Amino acid sequence: MDLDTFGDQLDRLRGAALADVAAAGDLEALDERASHYLGRKGTLTALLRSIGAIPPEARPRAGQLANAVREAVEAAMAARREALAAVQLERRLAAEATDPTLPGRPRRRGSLHPLLETSRRIAEIFGQFGFVVYEGPQVETDELNFQLLNIPEEHPSRDLWDTLYTDLPGHLLRTHTSPGQIHVMRATRPPIRALLPGRCFRYEAVDASHGFEFFQVEGLMIDEGTTLSDLRGLLDEFAHAMFGADRGTRFRPGYYPFTEPSVAFDVRCVVCDGTGCPACGRSGWMTILGAGMVHPVVLRNGGIDPERYQGFAFGMGTDRITMLRYGINDLRLFLESDVRFLEQF
Ligand code: PHE
Repeated sequence: MDLDTFGDQLDRLRGAALADVAAAGDLEALDERASHYLGRKGTLTALLRSIGAIPPEARPRAGQLANAVREAVEAAMAARREALAAVQLERRLAAEATDPTLPGRPRRRGSLHPLLETSRRIAEIFGQFGFVVYEGPQVETDELNFQLLNIPEEHPSRDLWDTLYTDLPGHLLRTHTSPGQIHVMRATRPPIRALLPGRCFRYEAVDASHGFEFFQVEGLMIDEGTTLSDLRGLLDEFAHAMFGADRGTRFRPGYYPFTEPSVAFDVRCVVCDGTGCPACGRSGWMTILGAGMVHPVVLRNGGIDPERYQGFAFGMGTDRITMLRYGINDLRLFLESDVRFLEQF
């Protein structure tokens, strides 16, 4: 090969290489071009190797020309590489950029179910008087739900509790939280101040004020020298904390087999304040719980000596208290899981 031919080939490769480098759109394309021309098997590399085929006197000149071309191509590549890297960095930064002035994404927060909220509020109020929360099972035995509470089998007072029985003989869905009294008496020793919230069940026709499933909170206090006036004072404190400091209250005689004497505890109607309205049956009073002094038979069944200890118990409907607190008129709303209702609490 003579020098002219070599020079022509060099020129052509140089032109092609420079045009290719200028056209490379990203770093990968540029790398690919670099190895195409300058790699081990590159076309320019091959041409440089062919210098040996040139007559010896022309080789130095050929070498000069070849080196100049290689340097030019290498310089063009380096410049292009720098430019492409800068562009790519800029693009990446733009894609990753966060705008600190954007408003945060709102997070939906759940809230406590109104029945649970009320139950906790009740526990909080009685907690100030030393009452501790326990929980009993929802499936009870006939013995605990009735017999040990001084309600023998076949006794007419059972009519007070329309009961859902299970297939398991002797077992039923508790009709009230009162069997918890026996659980607590047997599990601890006086002095006792216990609060037992939980779900209860009765065989009821469902309407706006009756559910076959509802909630109660039971209270039990047992100590030496506990009296009915202690009960009255405690319930007054509760009514005032729950329904307002000037809320009027009263005891009425009541009947429960497991308390003697038994009372109903009323507060002045929270709707009309006592003047009489449909909500209170025009009486001006609303009954919020049943209570009484724990019957000696029940104390004995709980393993407690009635000669030494006395106590009182009370049981309130969490649903009813919640309805009064929030002005809810249909207790079926509590268990329908309708978020339009639940979101309001
Ligand atoms: N267990 C009774 C009921 O459900 C309420 C009650 C509890 C009454 C404790 C007196 C003492 O009707």
